[in-house]
Amino acid sequence: MTRTAVIGAGPSGLAQLRAFASADASDVEVPEVVCYEKQEDWGGIWNYTWRTGLDEYGEPVHGSMYRYLWSNGPKECLEFADYSFEEHFGKPIGSYPPREVLWDYIKGRVEQSGVRDLIRFRTVVREVTFDSGSSMFTVTSHDLPTDHVSSEKFDHVVVASGHFSVPNVPYFPGFETFLGRVLHGHDFRDAQEFTGKDILIIGASYSAEDIGSQCHKYGARTVTISSRGGGTGYDWPDNWEEVSILTRVDGRTAHFDDGSTKEVDAVILCTGYLHHFPFMADDLRLRTNNRLWVPGLYKGVVWEANPRLFYLGMQDQYYTFNMFDAQAWYARDVILGRITLPSAAEMAAHGAGWLAREQSLETAYEEIDFQGDYTQELVDETDYPDFDIPAVNRMFKEWKGHKGQDMMGYRDKGFPSTITGRMAPVHHTPWIEAMDDSMASYLSDAP
Ligand SMILES: Cc1cc2nc3c(=O)[nH]c(=O)nc-3n(C[C@H](O)[C@H](O)[C@H](O)COP(=O)(O)OP(=O)(O)OC[C@H]3O[C@@H](n4cnc5c(N)ncnc54)[C@H](O)[C@@H]3O)c2cc1C
Ligand SMILES: NC(=O)c1ccc[n+]([C@@H]2O[C@H](COP(=O)([O-])OP(=O)(O)OC[C@H]3O[C@@H](n4cnc5c(N)ncnc54)[C@H](OP(=O)(O)O)[C@@H]3O)[C@@H](O)[C@H]2O)c1
Repeated sequence: MTRTAVIGAGPSGLAQLRAFASADASDVEVPEVVCYEKQEDWGGIWNYTWRTGLDEYGEPVHGSMYRYLWSNGPKECLEFADYSFEEHFGKPIGSYPPREVLWDYIKGRVEQSGVRDLIRFRTVVREVTFDSGSSMFTVTSHDLPTDHVSSEKFDHVVVASGHFSVPNVPYFPGFETFLGRVLHGHDFRDAQEFTGKDILIIGASYSAEDIGSQCHKYGARTVTISSRGGGTGYDWPDNWEEVSILTRVDGRTAHFDDGSTKEVDAVILCTGYLHHFPFMADDLRLRTNNRLWVPGLYKGVVWEANPRLFYLGMQDQYYTFNMFDAQAWYARDVILGRITLPSAAEMAAHGAGWLAREQSLETAYEEIDFQGDYTQELVDETDYPDFDIPAVNRMFKEWKGHKGQDMMGYRDKGFPSTITGRMAPVHHTPWIEAMDDSMASYLSDAP
């Protein structure tokens, strides 16, 4: 029997476990699977932690999520094709659930598959190397509670360790003497810390939008968004402003590129994350920025330089859970020998075509269609249940439109499930007034 290592038990790694568990094994031998997970529970960054910095074992904290985080896209766009929200919750629920609800959904599917025993929790992968003589990987891991380091051999390795956990932290002059707080979004946990404060956000992407919105909802006095591109392009409430990029801070005064200034209490760096795989040997390590087509990965999954190695979920993401599934099903079928990979030259040519298309994308709508087409390609080549990807693309475009109309109200809409066909009810409380983000509150029919 061959052996496969899966690194990480977040949505991507769990998709891999589910893929193996649901394989029709009548004509193939399913490998022994070992999943390494450094946290004490599954769900990846959906498994909330109050900790920041280092954990109790001195390991970097993986979690980047914060209290009161609600899905920033319709749940119908990420719904598992083999496990609907309705199957999990027993009734239709709103389209933008809070974190705890989505975590519960992620867990429900893998509990049903009975794969928890395959996971070694509290075990960090320290090193992955490949021996070309034996064609085997050596995975060295650290069992944190016992403080024991050991190595095992594997035929295949699937890296599913995420890429929104190691913060990209730029420096701006004056930070060392700033009279307020400087933090990265990775360490943001509770918007109530900023009630009554003037906050400055650096960056213009999802974290900037959402952390600014959280702070606004929980009573920040003003929100200033500073970015080096053209800004977010959205209409914000009256106590917000968008300004050019920060050049320096002096005391509590922030100075911007256009010569304007603003007194602020805190600077929150929403400047994205690094793809960081220090545990992978140099020749196996993925090096990329956050983009829709990651060069060097055939079908966005297979490490072209050594096709026994796979990376899941490494793309910038409109699509999430269902795309990770399609990738995991594809990786599974390569490992099972059901999919035969083409030559290295053909793999490179295939990637070059997608890369050229990625580089020609100009609008968010084109990006959505791009990722939908990519996901469809994987679905078509596996037995992952086909779902209505054109409908998902349309929902993503509608979602963009709703954000354009009302950034504080876009979560008050409902979308139909492509799996059950049923329309999501509108949540009982408008998002801006919904201070309780517990699962009990979200699933109840009234406030
Ligand atoms: C603040 C924030 C909000 C988000 N909100 C949304 C949203 O609303 N909707 C949405 O669809 N997506 C959202 N995302 C995107 C999110 O990244 C994906 O939904 C999803 O969690 C990615 O799954 P993953 O398994 O690839 O990575 P992760 O969820 O990061 O899981 C990776 C797992 O690997 C483990 N791991 C890492 N390194 C090691 C190691 N060396 N050894 C062992 N284990 C290791 C980690 O502990 C973790 O459990 C958000 C991201 C962020 C940062
Ligand atoms: N559920 C939710 O509500 C929620 C909340 C937060 C995050 N998320 C998810 O988290 C993921 C990551 O989003 P993200 O916004 O953290 O990262 P991101 O999408 O990669 O965006 C990073 C931002 O930082 C800016 N930036 C990077 N380096 C900079 C520098 N040196 N100076 C100034 N600006 C800099 C970038 O600007 P340039 O474009 O100029 O490079 C960009 O605006 C996404 O998948 C998102 O969906 C979801």
